[in-house]
Amino acid sequence: MKALIPAAGLGTRFLPVTSVIPKEMLPIGSRPALELIVEEARSAGATEIVIVISEGKELIRRYFSGESDIKIVYQHEQKGLGHAVYQASEFFGDGEKVLILLGDALVVGCNASKAMAEVSAANGGASVIGCERVPLERVSRYGIMKMAHEFDVAEGDAFELADIVEKPSEEDAPSDLAVAGRYLLDSKIFDFLSDQIAGVGGEIQLTDAIRRMVACKYPFFGYIYRGHRQDIGNPDGYFNALVSYRAKEGR
Ligand code: G1P
Repeated sequence: MKALIPAAGLGTRFLPVTSVIPKEMLPIGSRPALELIVEEARSAGATEIVIVISEGKELIRRYFSGESDIKIVYQHEQKGLGHAVYQASEFFGDGEKVLILLGDALVVGCNASKAMAEVSAANGGASVIGCERVPLERVSRYGIMKMAHEFDVAEGDAFELADIVEKPSEEDAPSDLAVAGRYLLDSKIFDFLSDQIAGVGGEIQLTDAIRRMVACKYPFFGYIYRGHRQDIGNPDGYFNALVSYRAKEGR
């Protein structure tokens, strides 16, 4: 398994500090947040990690320059998460699994990636998407999942996925289950991304490519990981990450 960390976003929700330091490099204790995400990938079993950056975020390349398992690629135009992911396609062969960890999503309290790899193994190598329940008034900020067979899901549960939709309105949302920063996908995703047209916000959405894959009957599961995602792309989320990291990991 290889990992892919999209970290090319401009950090506009966290200006002005992100004009001099990428949001992914903000410290959590003595280490950049991105290093904790790299460690999550490694301890989940990733043998190679590709980080997607953009011009101006060379601090990331410099920081990890001594690490032989880390490769850097560029996204030269800001065309969305799906487009950022596609920039790393050359590193992944047919039939390989791609572990995607969003560079601004810190998961505290569990190794979500490792748990997802176990869910995949237990389900014949299916793709797995990490998720969390969100209040209905927030569904329009996330990718939202539709279960194939409805049941009352709780933390630690996996379920078969029937559909997924990016940033639906409250009325159109098929559930309150939100994509939460971690994906373990069959490398077939790159074929779907190669001709993916722009969606919500005029951006090439990873969710839309996954939706087409699901429609083509590739097996997908959702998994509600134990632990909490902290969005470190804005000041509030970053402060929460510091507090919960200190409480849970004791650093
Ligand atoms: C991205 C994904 C979305 C997901 C979210 C949190 O959205 O497109 O499906 O729910 O990350 O993991 P963004 O936060 O980049 O708008």
